[in-house]
This record gives sequence, C-alpha cells and structure tokens, in this order.
Amino acid sequence: MTAASLVGIFDALMPLGIKIYLDLVLEHKSLLQVFDGFPLWTKPFTSMVVSFLPAGIDILKTSWMIPVGIIVFMLTQGAFNYIATYLTVLVNVSLTTQVKRDLYAKLLGFEPAYFDRSNTGEILARFGGDVDMAINGVTDMLKSSLVRTFSVIGLSLTLLSISWKLATIALVVLSTIFIPLAFMRKYLKKVSQTTLENMSLLSSHYTEALQGNRVIAVFHLFNAKLAAFESSIKGLRHIALRLATVQGAITPIMHSISGLGISLVLWFGTGLMQSGEMTTGGFASFLTSLILLYTPIKSLGNMSTQLQLSYLALLRVYELMDRVPALQFPTTGADLSTIEQGITVKNLSFQYRADLPMVLKHVDLFIPTGKTVALVGSSGSGKTTLAHLLLRLYDAVEGEILFDSHPIQTLTKETLASLSCAVFQDNFMFVGSIRENILLSNPQATETELWQAIDAAYLRDFVNSLPQGLETPVGERGVLLSGGQKQRIAIARAFLKNTPLVVLDEATSALDNQSEAVVQQAIDSLMRNRTVVVIAHRLSTVMNADTIVVMAHGSIVEQGTHAQLLADGGAYANLYNAQFKEPLPVAVPSPTAFATELLAP
Ligand SMILES: Nc1ncnc2c1ncn2[C@@H]1O[C@H](COP(=O)(O)OP(=O)(O)OP(=O)(O)O)[C@@H](O)[C@H]1O
Ligand SMILES: [Mg+2]
Repeated sequence: MTAASLVGIFDALMPLGIKIYLDLVLEHKSLLQVFDGFPLWTKPFTSMVVSFLPAGIDILKTSWMIPVGIIVFMLTQGAFNYIATYLTVLVNVSLTTQVKRDLYAKLLGFEPAYFDRSNTGEILARFGGDVDMAINGVTDMLKSSLVRTFSVIGLSLTLLSISWKLATIALVVLSTIFIPLAFMRKYLKKVSQTTLENMSLLSSHYTEALQGNRVIAVFHLFNAKLAAFESSIKGLRHIALRLATVQGAITPIMHSISGLGISLVLWFGTGLMQSGEMTTGGFASFLTSLILLYTPIKSLGNMSTQLQLSYLALLRVYELMDRVPALQFPTTGADLSTIEQGITVKNLSFQYRADLPMVLKHVDLFIPTGKTVALVGSSGSGKTTLAHLLLRLYDAVEGEILFDSHPIQTLTKETLASLSCAVFQDNFMFVGSIRENILLSNPQATETELWQAIDAAYLRDFVNSLPQGLETPVGERGVLLSGGQKQRIAIARAFLKNTPLVVLDEATSALDNQSEAVVQQAIDSLMRNRTVVVIAHRLSTVMNADTIVVMAHGSIVEQGTHAQLLADGGAYANLYNAQFKEPLPVAVPSPTAFATELLAP
C-alpha cells in the first residue's frame, strides 16, 4: 500500500521538476529562490531537498546532475512500482488460496439437498469465478486505485503549489467528471447480475457437452444443444453491447470536460503570466500536471466498472461463506461401535422440499441387527428416499430413526460413517487407479485386507487380466470401466469398510444375467453377518431376505417373508407373479451355480 501510494506521488514530482528546471534556466534563479516561490506548506519538503545538496552548489553548472537526477528518480519510482506489483500478487495469491480452500471445505460440508438445487455451472461460477473476481478487485484494483488516487492527490497539490487560482478552476471543472460515473454505477449493478447468471448458464452448457456427450450423440442433439448455447451466448453479447453504449460515452464526456478545463486554464493562465503573477516555468509545469492528471482520473473512472463487478462478486462469496449447512452433526455423541438390537424407523415422513409432496408418509419399520430387510415396490414409491434417510443424507420432516435407542441426529458424522456404508446403482469413481478407488473407504487397510475385499467382490480375475493390474486408471467418473466392474469396485469398497450396516440400492440392476450372477455372489458374501437393507426390482435377488417390505406411494403396504407374502396373495404376490409369469426356460442354472461355473478356472 505504501509502495503503491509512493508510486502515485512520484507522478506528481515530474512536473514539479520541470517547473524547477525551467525556472532555473529561463529565469536564472537559484534553487533557493525557486523554492522561495513555493507556498508555505511545501517548506518541510523543499528544505529537506536543500539539506541533501552540498552547500553552495550551482545545479546548472554541475550539468550532470539533472540527467542523473532524472534517472535516479525513474529508478526509484520503478523500484516502488516493482515492490507494489509483487506484493499485490503475493496478497492476491495468498487470499485466493485461502478463500478457495475455505469455500471448498464449505462445499464439501453442504447437505445433498443443496446439490439437488444447484447446477454445475452455478457451483463453478460461485466457488471459482466469483472468488477470482472478488479478490482481483480487492487487490489489483486496490493497488491501481491507490496509485491513481495518490497521483491525483500529488498532482492536485502540485497545481495548488504553482497557482491556487488556476488550480481551483482546473479542479472544479475536472471534478464534474465524476457525475456521469456515479450514474454509471447504478446501471452496472443491474447489468453485472445478469452477466453472471448468463455466465453460469454457459458453463452448464460446457459440462453438459462433456458429461452428456453420449446422450447427445445417440439422440442427435447436436443442433438442439448448439441452439441452446447460442441463445445463452447471445444473451451475454446483448448485455456486453448495451454496456458498451453506456461505457463508451464515458470517455468522450471526460475528453470534453478536460478540454474545457485546459482551455479555461490557458485563458486565465496567459493573463496571470502577463500580470507577472506566474512564471513561464510555472505555467508550463501547470499544464503538464493538468495533462498528467487526466490519465489517473480517467482510469479511476474506468476502474469503477471493474470495482463494481468485484464488489458484487465479493458479496456473493460472503453469502456462501455465511451459509450454514442445513444438515448439522453434533461434535460429540454416543460412541456406538456397533448396533446391538437394531434400527427403528418411527412414524417417518419426508418431503424433498416444502413445496413438493410428501414422498414418505408415516413409515414404521424395525431392522433387526444381523438380518436382511429388502425394500421392494414400484418405481417412485420411496425406497431410495428411505435409504437416504437411514444414511442421514437428509433429515426427516416428521418422526425419527433410532440406532438402538439413539436418535440418528445425536450421532457424530464419524460414528455414522463407521456404522454404515452403501452400494448404489451408479457408483461414483474418482479420478485415479482401481487401487485408490477401493482403498478410499479404508486407507489404512493392509495389502492382505485389500486382496480379501477384491476376492469377496469377485474382482481378482478382472484385476489380474489388466496389464497394469490394480494401478489401472479408471478414468473420469470411471468411464474406462463397465457398469458391472464399477459395481464390484463399490462392493469391494464396502467390504473394506466393514461396517455393521450396509445399504444396497439396486446394486445389481444394471447388469446382465451373467454379471449379475457374479455380483450377486459378491453381495451375498457382503451380507453375511451384517445388518442389510437391500433395494431391488428383481425379486429373485431378495427372495431370501429375512423380511421383505413392500412400499407404495411412500407407505409400507406389506411386510413378511417371501413365503408369507406369497401366501397372503397381496401386492407382493402380484409383483412376483408379474415377474415370473412367463414360464422359465428349462435349463437356467441358479445364479450361484452359474457364477461358480463362470469363475471356474
Ligand atoms: N432429490 C430429489 N428432489 C426432489 N424429489 C425427489 C428427489 N429424489 C427423488 N424425488 C422424488 O421422490 C419420490 C420417491 O423417489 P425414490 O427415489 O425414493 O423412489 P424409488 O422407490 O427409489 O424409485 P425407483 O425404484 O425408481 O428407484 C419420487 O416421486 C421422486 O420424484
Ligand atoms: Mg430408487
């Protein structure tokens, strides 16, 4: 800040030097006489300069002093400029690093419902772009506006020191420049909000092109997607052009105002010179200062656009920083290392948003420890939602979930994570190797434990068939793997985590019969000695569950064993008959037999 201010002040010393030089040459005055012509408030500075010079020296006779003086002056200003630039970057980089880290931590802590509402483009814009814009505004702008402000102050003081009368005229005229700028600010606020919304829309288009490329290709969405992109980018173009009509007017207005200032100064200045109230050197230096003053004032004007945008970005960053995640976990709580009796779901009701209908209605269920409970029912009946609530990805609107006698909200994040894990239909793979993707559930696992999990997930043959083995990269989102391979990696993760409760949501539904048989065997071994909640459409995979729970429209309509429910002839019996009404082909082996055959060497 000091360095930046000094750079600004140095701008003002230049015209002063010209005055002194011209006075010395044209008016044949001595340096002391020139300094005497300055107003009283400059005395401390002039006497400081005099005290630096050797006594009785005649600056003009020592001809090298002027050029050397100029070079020293330039070098000093350059050095300050260098320091100011470096420090600005240092502050900028440190702040950006810190703020982005904090925001990323915030993002990781947000509840899933937040992500249901936001899109990738918005997240990228708010967590990345906004931070850059806000911090660049704060640092770069601060530096330049400091330099500019101080050169305006320095130059104005120079003007005042030469002739306060002329200076008053000039400064009054120049200050009217700020009137159109103030007008501009209001307009900008409106525009920048729309610009940012459009920009986040644009970045959504990019992510869609990236992640949806297969759907785009298959449904031939090329033209439709291009048209949507065009309309978004046209919006931005329109805003930029409208901004230009306003911003473009600023420079001509400022030119006219400064032209007016200079002509008034020339007119009055000539009079002052003729009346002997001002020296020629003084006048020349006055004009130089005035012209130099124009640049910083103009750039202060232009910067106000950027500053305004940065300010708005800063407000948005603050808003995110202050956002309290809707899902709060206690920091201390019951230290459950296992679930003794089971999980009780009591009168549970849930809706994703206050304006959406209830998707779970008064659900009551007991999941005994060590047993397998299967959730079946038509699509949209709320099975996945119930699983999400058991994992506490969302909180119920009404009712409660008890782990033994402990309400789920009283468990710490760590306890909950050590008690439960899940395998979903679509399992996310992180960029990295197969090894990294399995180990993430338990980074401390030994090589033996890792291979046990790999065996249990029936992955060994696949891994061994790869030239790079466990170190094979999975690609972004696991694109280099098949659906079944991803599911088996997810199952290996769950094995390695070894939690008392396992939630399996359609963990085999994406697979063909052969792969399902293999994965089902993996799942059967995962289910041993654990409390399991399994969701599946294919009833063949849940027939052996201890309890089968049938859901419809957010409620439980039936529960019991396969045999009981079939005998009852209710909803489950209907589902079952619908799936198996086609006579089965004759020689279909049982899934397990099939898998054994498949895996046989
Ligand atoms: N994130 C969400 N935001 C808003 N509504 C949602 C969300 N997820 C699911 N829903 C709605 O909640 C209802 C229940 O969905 P859920 O995913 O629990 O059904 P499901 O029984 O698992 O169905 P499926 O068998 O097709 O997987 C559906 O009507 C769905 O539209
Ligand atoms: Mg589901």
